Amino acid sequence: MALEAFPSGFVWGVATSAFQIEGAHDADGRGPSIWDTYAGQPGRIEDGSDAKVACDHYHRYEEDIALMKSLGVGAYRFSVSWPRILPTGRGPVNAAGLDFYDRLVDGLLSAGITPWVTLYHWDLPQVLQDEGGWTNRSTVDAFVELADVVSVRLGDRVQHWITHNEPWCVSVLGYADGAQAPGRRSWPEALVTSHHLLLSHGRAIPALRCNSPGSRIGITLNTSECEPASPSEADRIAARQFDGELNRWFLDPIHFGSYPDDVIEHHERVGRLPSGMDFVHSGDLEEIHTPIDFIGVNYYSRAVVRSASIPESENAPRTIPVPDPAELTDMGWEVYPKGLTRALLRLNEDYAPSALFVTENGAAYATGPRPDGSINDVRRCKYVQRHLQACLAAIEQGAPLHGYFLWSLLDNFEWAFGFAKRFGIVWVDFETQERIIKASGHMYSRIIRQNGMVREEAA
Ligand code: FCB
Repeated sequence: MALEAFPSGFVWGVATSAFQIEGAHDADGRGPSIWDTYAGQPGRIEDGSDAKVACDHYHRYEEDIALMKSLGVGAYRFSVSWPRILPTGRGPVNAAGLDFYDRLVDGLLSAGITPWVTLYHWDLPQVLQDEGGWTNRSTVDAFVELADVVSVRLGDRVQHWITHNEPWCVSVLGYADGAQAPGRRSWPEALVTSHHLLLSHGRAIPALRCNSPGSRIGITLNTSECEPASPSEADRIAARQFDGELNRWFLDPIHFGSYPDDVIEHHERVGRLPSGMDFVHSGDLEEIHTPIDFIGVNYYSRAVVRSASIPESENAPRTIPVPDPAELTDMGWEVYPKGLTRALLRLNEDYAPSALFVTENGAAYATGPRPDGSINDVRRCKYVQRHLQACLAAIEQGAPLHGYFLWSLLDNFEWAFGFAKRFGIVWVDFETQERIIKASGHMYSRIIRQNGMVREEAA
């Protein structure tokens, strides 16, 4: 299948998130987020870095818009920083913070690039964490307030909204594994958190629809295929369980208005629900089940699951290493494009969403500038090509896939890995803030143009 065979109208995008690129951590009234706190704790970030400056996108957004325009990108998925807009979590709006996104949106639109706004990409205001963060039910309404404030201001120009990015990571990695902010290690807290995230998603939708009429609203999930490591019954059960925790725990309430019974039973059996599901109040599931317009899929790799030979309490997703190291990215994640086709087809079969968008896909490789300044990131080029092929295969088999956002526009602050893991199609020199388009960026640009998106004409 040739890569110029995408349906017309297919959305060609790139993605970033506020905390990972903006920097300007205390500029113009921004408050601290849980990620500022987490990065400030010794030993949390692999390379000891923080995101106080990151890509300095807050000050360089015009240059970054120009980069996207030169690449011919049609859409840009970015997130808003909650503590920049509501430094105290709720209540008084920081006008300067909101103004930034206003300028960003206008800049994008005048470059012919469609803004896709993610409301929550992990940077909770620290003040809300001090009250329990997502375990506190009042954070749900604080999020709805954020959604309201942002969509009142931007809703006339932003027509694509993503409520949350990867609630599994927020809840499980943040509250059970301690691998991400706020660094908690409690499964009961993680499950309360997941419910509050879902509730805040559902509850924000009416505000978004009201303030941004005609817009399309969705949520982004990290839906990996979960395959048993062997044909054994034990591995099959483990894979089904992990699929339940990772995928169905989020997809079922959104699409069917109920949590999957087998996953509730599993969580109960292993002591993760000491008070049962008492955090689910009457009416919550109806709110979570509010119709949406698309599911955003973040796909990097599959999960190969083996039965536990380690105690459940260790909470580790039990994936086995792949045999061929050449097929691993710098994250240690297996390159497995087929898993993307399967994830998209599975979503379509089991949940029949109105539309699917790949809202993140990409690879970490450290490849840097050669003496002549060019960057030949061949492995990222191959990764992207193979995953675009996987998208085409899914479309051919009936998946309603309408767009692809490459992660990421820029090398950036990769959470607990700091700056060591580079996902950008544009290199960032973090000393000088110089940007260099990598070979993968040029290749992506060619693919976009071959598919008929000619930015110069559109602008
Ligand atoms: C996803 C996150 C994104 C980025 C990529 C590599 O889980 O949504 O911010 O870190 O992984």
